[in-house]
Order: sequence, then C-alpha cells, then structure tokens
Amino acid sequence: MKKIKQRNKKIEKERSRKTSQFQTVKGMADILPKDQNWWKMINKVSDSVAELHDYYFMETPILENAGLFEASLGESTDVIEKEMYVFKTKGGDRVALRPEGTTAVVRSYLENHLGYFSSPLRVYYMGPMFRYERPQAGRYRQLHQLGFEIIGDSDPVYDVQIILVVFAFLKEMRLKNFKIRINSIGCRVCRPNYKQKIKEYYRTKKLELCDDCNERYEKNILRLLDCKEAGCRILVQKAPVILDSLCQACNNHFRTVLELLEDNAIVYEPDPYLVRGLDYYSKTVFEIYYDNPANALAGGGRFDYLSEFLGGRMLPSVGVAIGLERVIETLKSLEIEPNLKLKSRMFFAAVGDNAKKAAVKFIDQLRENNVAVVEALGKKSLRAQLKIADKYHLQTVLIFGQKELFEEMIIIRDMKTGAQENIVLSKMTEEVKRRLR
Ligand code: HAM
Repeated sequence: MKKIKQRNKKIEKERSRKTSQFQTVKGMADILPKDQNWWKMINKVSDSVAELHDYYFMETPILENAGLFEASLGESTDVIEKEMYVFKTKGGDRVALRPEGTTAVVRSYLENHLGYFSSPLRVYYMGPMFRYERPQAGRYRQLHQLGFEIIGDSDPVYDVQIILVVFAFLKEMRLKNFKIRINSIGCRVCRPNYKQKIKEYYRTKKLELCDDCNERYEKNILRLLDCKEAGCRILVQKAPVILDSLCQACNNHFRTVLELLEDNAIVYEPDPYLVRGLDYYSKTVFEIYYDNPANALAGGGRFDYLSEFLGGRMLPSVGVAIGLERVIETLKSLEIEPNLKLKSRMFFAAVGDNAKKAAVKFIDQLRENNVAVVEALGKKSLRAQLKIADKYHLQTVLIFGQKELFEEMIIIRDMKTGAQENIVLSKMTEEVKRRLR
C-alpha cells in the first residue's frame, strides 16, 4: 500500500513538472470559458453595430510578409524597431505576425481591387495582433482588436463617422463616460515645417531628454511629444504646437471635424501633442480612453498616404482599432456584467444503459427544436446527474429511466418546487418549450 502511494506521488510530481513546463508564452493569454459571455457579447455587438453603420466584414491572414509592415508603419517606430515578431519560414520567406490590422486591410484593398466593390469601402475586422511589448496590466503580446476602416474618401465627415462607430460600440458594450483626445498632425505640405520648428525647440534641450528621445530626435522627432518620461513631459509643455503650423487645407479639415463632433454632442479634449505611434497617419488622430489616457481603449486617425507606401495610388482613408482586452478589463473594473440574451437551458438525466442510449436521440431531438440541453450522461447515478443540474441552476429537468423507456413516458421535474409529472414521450418537446417560455 505504502509503495503504491509513493509511486502515485512520484507520478503526480512528474505530471506537475511537465505541465508547468508547458504554459502560455509570456504576455499571451487563453480566453477561458468563464469569460465566454464577454467575447460572445463583443461578437454580437460588433456585428450589429457594423451592420447599422454599413461596414462589411473582412479578415486578413495573421501572417504577412514582414516588409509590408516595414513599408507602412515607419522604420523608426517602436512597433518596427522593437515589437514585431519577425521570422524566416523554412522556405526562406521573411514573415511577421501582424502587429495591427490597417496595413493588411489596405494591402488587401490593393491586391483585390476592392475599390470596384464600393467607394469608399467601409470594412471591419476582429482578431489577434502581436506586439513584443513589456507585458503589464492592459499591455499584452497577443491582443485582440476590433477595427473599422473607411477607405477611399478624404471628406472630414468620415473622420467623425469613424469616431461615432467606436462610440456606438462602447455604448452598446454598456460603457459610459469614456473620453476622446484629438489632434491634427498635418499633411505632407505642413508637417515638415512643424518638424523643423520642434527640432529647433529641442536642439538646445537635448541633454534634458531621456535616452530614447535623444534617439528619436534624429529619427522620429514627432515622438518626442508623447514621451511618458517625467523630464520629457515638462519640456513638451512649452514645445510649439502643430495647430499653429497647419496649412489651410489641414486647418479647414480639422475645424470641420471638430464642428461635426460638436454638432453630434461629442465632448472632445483637444491635445496638441497627440501624435500616435505609427508613421502612416496624417491630419486627424485621436485616442479614446476611460480614466487613464496612457491606457487607451481605442486609437485611430487618417492614413491618406498608406496606400502610396504600399505602391498604390493615393487613397485617403480613416480608421480606428479598439483594444478588446482593455474594454473588457474596464467593464470588469466597473463591475458591469455582460449583457447577453442567452437561450434558456434545461437538463436531461438518464439512468440505465438502454435509457441512456435512447436519451442521446431525445436530446438531439430537443436541440433540433432549438432547446438548449445540458446533460451529464457520463455520470451513472441520478443523484450525481441532478447535482450537476443544481450546479447549473437549471429549473427544468427531464428524467428518463428503464421504466419510462418501457412505458414511453418521461418525468419532468421542477427543481425549484420539487414537483414531478409524467408525460408521454411524444409531448416532451412541446412541454419543455412551454416551461422554458
Ligand atoms: P493602436 O493605437 O496601436 O492603433 O492600437 C489600437 C488599440 O489597441 C489601443 O488603443 C489599445 O486599446 C489596443 N492595444 C494596442 N497595443 C496593445 C497591447 N500591447 N496590449 C493590449 N492592448 C493593446 C492601431 O493598431 C491602428 N491600426 C488603429 C487604426 C485603425 N488606425 C487607423 N485605422
């Protein structure tokens, strides 16, 4: 006996050593059954909001050629320099796990001539993105985004429609009081002048900048404006603002966007130092957050030149992506529950081999009639099966045994009152449906 115990202990130890060896990769998480209602709700709400706002669903592969993102996001952005998962396939292709969705959507637009399909093209997508960032609360290496893009029109009305679609999504998810920061980062005409101005401003302050910003000074000067380091934050307060440098066209565009937001009763926070982390943006940029601007729920803006970066003609476009883990975490922190209308469920118990065999058929019949059935046919005793019904808080239970099989009857039990009734098998579905109503 002692020997058996010792052996079992050894096996258990070996098992736990093995399972602890096989865990999720750092920064990546499983979506567990306990959270299924959140993800079901996200799917439902995103489809319904997209349909109301006239967006088509599309999906691009998770793996793309690495060069695609390098061409679109900018070589000196954090995503390209530090965060992209790039590797060589056995065939020697250099591929990347997509760090974001917009680039791939535009790649697909050009590759599949989607302009013929609709102009502008409104699409939405949902799926995992990958960024090799330092994992912390709200920051993961595999994250899920819901993205909306309007491709092929420069009208500022679309900038606002993109903002409105995010607002509609967040509201349907039962989130309130989120805020939006907004800015314009100009275009090819006016941005170079502005870059020159901030270069001059920072020229004499290089010693006070953090190491990263000293590097950004040479490579990506705009990123100095949204550095989170305390010393850099102080310096930014007196930096020239881009709004003073915008050309007439960008100025008019931005003014119209703000007017339209006001017309739609959207309270916004102008943030002259919001620049966003990806190089493809022009004109309007924005971020939506709940209580911490550094932990944005969504970010987006115009990307009028992205198509050109990928070899296409100029294709003025605007879009947004929502970080779904962050939305769920915010809702959970506010103790908001997922709001889903789920099917009412009932429990089917069967005792005895023959009854169990017949039960498989009856359960299928109920499901075909749109009744959601829970069962635990693997458990032998009625008591063990009813325990499961209790655990699921199911009120309506069907009980089927040898006697019922012989008599072509079935017992229907109300778990709340304990009341039981025998009904003929042919009336089973009808009666269950009546009770579940
Ligand atoms: P992004 O600002 O890089 O924009 O990401 C959008 C959202 O994804 C963020 O606001 C955040 O909620 C979430 N997110 C980003 N990185 C992480 C992370 N490491 N962990 C958790 N959540 C994260 C884009 O990706 C652009 N493609 C958006 C866009 C669409 N612009 C135009 N169209």
